[in-house]
Amino acid sequence: MTRVIHNGVAAPVAGRVHDQTASGTVGKQLAMPQVWTIANQKGGVGKTTTVVTLAGLLARQGKRVLMLDLDPQGSLSIYFDYNPETVRLGVYELFIADHAPDANGVRKLVQETHFDNLQLIPATCSMATLDRKLGTRTGKGLVIKDCIRAFAGMYDHVLIDCSPSLGILLVNALAACDRIIIPVQTEFLAIKGLERMLHTLTMISRSTGRELPYVILPTMYDKRTRAAGHSLAQIKQQFGNKVWEPVIPVNTEFREASRTGIPLSLRSPQDRGVCAYRELCDHLLLVDRTIVDK
Ligand SMILES: Nc1ncnc2c1ncn2[C@@H]1O[C@H](COP(=O)(O)OP(=O)(O)O)[C@@H](O)[C@H]1O
Ligand SMILES: [Mg+2]
Repeated sequence: MTRVIHNGVAAPVAGRVHDQTASGTVGKQLAMPQVWTIANQKGGVGKTTTVVTLAGLLARQGKRVLMLDLDPQGSLSIYFDYNPETVRLGVYELFIADHAPDANGVRKLVQETHFDNLQLIPATCSMATLDRKLGTRTGKGLVIKDCIRAFAGMYDHVLIDCSPSLGILLVNALAACDRIIIPVQTEFLAIKGLERMLHTLTMISRSTGRELPYVILPTMYDKRTRAAGHSLAQIKQQFGNKVWEPVIPVNTEFREASRTGIPLSLRSPQDRGVCAYRELCDHLLLVDRTIVDK
């Protein structure tokens, strides 16, 4: 690796021990990372961009971030210079093992990126065969949740990037997270994909017995076009206070950032697209903080 970007914050020590007991007696419990899944059963809506940008924002603040690439197409991995066709170890290994890998085995899958505080478990092309390979085998719905347990005390945040198709990977991503962010492109037909996604969410909530907080994030909003305004109004009308405002503006800088492989939030922290993501990020951190403090 030749390009190293320091985010300007020293990486906190991994394995931090956190005092946390309900009874008030002092016990040592490793803090679990906050897990955010970024999902929509529609492609090209800004899922990977959202993962990369939020990850950069969090890492800049000195948070230790692990990204999981659960999309067999591996756009997130490619962004960080890992080619899903040649990477040897990744998410796939978690699913095909007869026994769940132990903590050490899981940690061996983690790859460095060029950036402080940002690490990745990459995708490999073989992931595309998982649904066929696993068939109806049960007990594979919590593979990612179990994997994340191995990272207690090591990360503050885990961000999961998803594929648009409904299968074992998406089910795992939804079952493993504390919160879901659903990017939705402000364009015609956006609502169809959104309805499908929310239906999946309801199914998962039923089977896990817990309701997951989610936020709908309008992306690529082009305020100059009437079509964008119209579709945003429609999304707000149908999904009300679940819709995050201010929206993420259309901004060619995101495209350019993916070409250079540097998260826009690290390259140009004051970019207006990044500022829009920062508002969301700060809000979610505040909400999570409030929940933890309760
Ligand atoms: N706010 C934005 N403005 C302009 N282009 C964007 C924006 N967000 C994402 N893009 C671009 O749109 C394309 C699809 O985004 P991506 O994040 O890969 O979507 P997904 O992961 O949902 O398939 C990429 O080329 C990306 O750079
Ligand atoms: Mg993607």
